[in-house]
Amino acid sequence: MQDPLARLGLKHPLIVASMAGGPSSPELVIASSAAGALGSIGAAYSSPAAITEFVDKVRAGTDRPFAINLFIQHPQPQIDAATVERAVAATAKYRAELDLPAPQFAAPYEEDFDQQFEAVLKAKPAVLSFVFGALPAEYMRTARKSGMLIIGTATTPEEAEALEESGVDAITLQGFEAGGHRGIFDPEAADSEIGLWDLLTRTLPKAKLPLIAAGGIMTAVDIRSVLAMGASAVQMGTAFLATAEAGTSAAYRAALQGTERATRTTRAFSGRFARGIENRFMNELDAAAAMPFPAQNKFTRDIRGASAAKGSADFLSLWAGTGKGELWQGSAADLIEKLFAD
Ligand SMILES: Cc1cc2nc3c(=O)[nH]c(=O)nc-3n(C[C@H](O)[C@H](O)[C@H](O)COP(=O)(O)O)c2cc1C
Repeated sequence: MQDPLARLGLKHPLIVASMAGGPSSPELVIASSAAGALGSIGAAYSSPAAITEFVDKVRAGTDRPFAINLFIQHPQPQIDAATVERAVAATAKYRAELDLPAPQFAAPYEEDFDQQFEAVLKAKPAVLSFVFGALPAEYMRTARKSGMLIIGTATTPEEAEALEESGVDAITLQGFEAGGHRGIFDPEAADSEIGLWDLLTRTLPKAKLPLIAAGGIMTAVDIRSVLAMGASAVQMGTAFLATAEAGTSAAYRAALQGTERATRTTRAFSGRFARGIENRFMNELDAAAAMPFPAQNKFTRDIRGASAAKGSADFLSLWAGTGKGELWQGSAADLIEKLFAD
C-alpha cells in the first residue's frame, strides 16, 4: 500500500503542528509548507469567517499543501450554579489584580463545529486533521468526497484502533511529552499518560495506517529515532514556538527561553488536560474549581488576554512539551533545514 502521506509530495516527513490560539500564524504555516514540511492552521477557536481569511492569507503566500486542524466537539457540558460560583470565587482575586470586571459567562462555549467544518470544506486544504475524537461517519463521508487527506490523533493504542475503524488516512500518535492539549477522546477521562516510545511500540505492530509521531521531538536525532522505529513522519510543535514567524506573544517567548522549562499537564486553563510551562495560574488554581471543557476555556479567556496585554506570563497558558534545550529563534525554514541537514 502506498503511504497516503506520499500524495502530499512533501520534501520532509514533518508536520509543523497546528498551534491554535496564536503561535500558528499565517506566516508560520506559509514558511513551514514552503520549506517542504506540512504547515498547519490551528482553526479550533476560529469562526468560519476567520478560517476563510486565514486560508486566503496562506494561499497568497504559498501554493504548497497545508492542513487545517479542528477540535472534535462533544455534547456541551451542563454546568450547575454551584460549579459556576466555585469557579468565579477561585478566580476573583486574579480578575481584581488584572482590573477585569466580573465574568460574563454563558453557553455556547465554543465555535459551532458544523459551521467550522463547512468553512474547511469550502477551503479544501490538502489535509484535515483533528483531535479529541473520531470524526462522525457522515462528516467522514463528506470530507472523503472532497478529496482531503484525513488525519486523526490518538493518545492510546485503543484510540488509534478507533480512528483506524473510522476510516482516517493516517494517525498522529501523541505521547504524554507533547505540548498543548492532550488529544484524549473522552473529555472526562483520566489521562493514560502514555509516553511516545511506549505508544509507538504498542501501536506499530498492529497498525495498518501510517503513524505520525508527536511529543517531545526536538532534534534531528529524535526524528531519526522515531522514523527508524517505523513512524512515517513526525509532528513538532514546541520546537517551532520561538521561530521568527510564530505568532507567540512576547511574554510567552520570554517564558520559553529557560532551557530547563518545567512543564506539566493541567486542567486549570481549559478544563481539558494540556501540557504547559508551570506558572502562577497553573500552580495556584485549585483544579477542583475548573469547569469542564470547553466552558473553562471560555471562562479564563479574559484572564489570559489581560495577562498577555500586560506582558505577564503569570496567567497565560504557556503550552510547551517536555523537550528541553534552547528554542530556535531564527526562521522556520532554517530550523527545518537544520533538522534535515543529512
Ligand atoms: C502552543 C501549542 C498549541 C497547540 N495547539 C494544538 C491544536 O490546536 N491542535 C492540535 O491538534 N494540537 C495542538 N497542539 C499539539 C501538537 O499538535 C503536538 O501534539 C505537540 O506540539 C507535539 O509535541 P511537542 O510540542 O513536544 O513537539 C499544540 C501544541 C502547542 C505547543
